[in-house]
This record gives sequence, structure tokens and C-alpha cells, in this order.
Amino acid sequence: MKLSVFYTPELTPETTLADCAIAVDVLRATSTIVTALSSGAEAVQVFSDLDKLLKVSEDWSSAKRIRAGERGGSKVEGFDFGNSPLDCTPERVGGKRLFISTTNGTRALQCVQTAPTVLAAALINREAVVQHLLQHQPETVWIVGSGWEGSFSLEDTVCAGAIAHQLQTKLGCSLEELAENDEVVGAIALYQQWQDNLLDLMHHASHGKRLLRLGCDEDLKYCSQTDVLDVLPMQREPGVLINSKSLVPIG
Ligand code: MLT
Repeated sequence: MKLSVFYTPELTPETTLADCAIAVDVLRATSTIVTALSSGAEAVQVFSDLDKLLKVSEDWSSAKRIRAGERGGSKVEGFDFGNSPLDCTPERVGGKRLFISTTNGTRALQCVQTAPTVLAAALINREAVVQHLLQHQPETVWIVGSGWEGSFSLEDTVCAGAIAHQLQTKLGCSLEELAENDEVVGAIALYQQWQDNLLDLMHHASHGKRLLRLGCDEDLKYCSQTDVLDVLPMQREPGVLINSKSLVPIG
């Protein structure tokens, strides 16, 4: 297995693709997607464009859909949710489809959506992602961070490092054998430095500070937990993610 990390969608190659692409937006889109699926949402459908989200979700009865829209960390007026994973309780999302558009996270998913396997990862479901990679052994794996409007983000990079570190440990291989680009080494080093203080790291992150200014302290605490949900969001059709852990094997 050869692993590459790209810090932002803008840094992700456009002309080639990996066998398995993993989009990461710890604060907060992929944490929200994982939580919604854990709470029994039927699926999560992602959009970069708010108007397109409204149009497509019109075909669903209001009892079967939740519309989530976030820009700049805040809820978009007229939407049911912003982008807080803590809104995604079983009572509110169970059995419904979550239609979601966020500033950066949904763009990361869209930039890799033609890969044969597309997953969404956050710290909260890190182990489920690692287990999938160990079981399926794709030849090439990309982890794509969302960043913030084209810039590097600490929270997505530390999550990439958390996945890479665990993968290397479980595979029992050297860094040289696993890492396809320098970003993998940088991400692992960041994770090793901060693994016991992930909440502190979120407080240093520019988007973490933005969310704290908006009063989202509880979201930071929630999103900085590691391995708490056994959920694996996997793309079933372009832009539509389901929990592959809830699929019953045939036969
Ligand atoms: C994003 O997509 O940029 C983030 O998820 C923003 C947020 O924290 O809501």
C-alpha cells in the first residue's frame, strides 16, 4: 500500500486518482457526516452549491430530509442545521437524508468523487477507516484535507497523521514503505507531537479559533476525540455517502 497526503483540495492532483480516496474535515464536515450516519441517517448527500442542494432536496418530503448549510462557520439562514455534529441526534436525523453544504469539507469530497472508493474520515472514526484499509489493502490511498479556503489546516493534517500512524503500526512496515509523499511524514510527526493533547491543538488551529469565537466550544471537544464511533462513510453514488458498516454481507 502506498499512501499520499494532500493538505487541501487545491494541492490534490487533478489528472490521476487513487484506488481509495479519503476526505477529511475534522472541523467539522466529516465529523458531522460520521455522527449523522451513526445516529441512523439513511444517507448524507453533499453539495458545494447551496442552491443545488435546495433544488435536489425538494424531491424529498420534509419529513424525510434535513438541510444543513454552513458558510464561514455559521448556519445559513433558512436551513434546518448549520454544521454542528452535536445537532445530529438519532431523534433529529434517524431515518432521514442529510443534505449538506459546507465551506470547505464538501469540496474535498467532491474533488475525489470519481475514485473507485471514497471514504470520509475524522478523528472520531479513525479506527474504522484504518480497519477498512487493512482489510481491503488498496494499492494507492490518498488522504485529502479540506483546509480553509485553500490553506493548510492543523486539524485535518493531524487526522491524516493519526490514520497514517495507525496504519504503519498495524502493517508493521517502515515509513519509507508506506509514504508516497513528504506530507505523510509531516502529518505523522504532527500527530506524534499532539496525540495526547488534540483539544489543545484545535485551540491553536485558525478554524478552531473561529469556531470558539462563534461559541462552538463543545464541537471542538467532540471533534477532538479519537476512535469513538465505529462508522465508515462510503460513497455509494457521486456525492451520496452511506455507513458501509451497517451493510449486511450477502450470503
Ligand atoms: C468547512 O467545510 O469548512 C467546515 O466544516 C466549516 C465548519 O466548521 O462548519
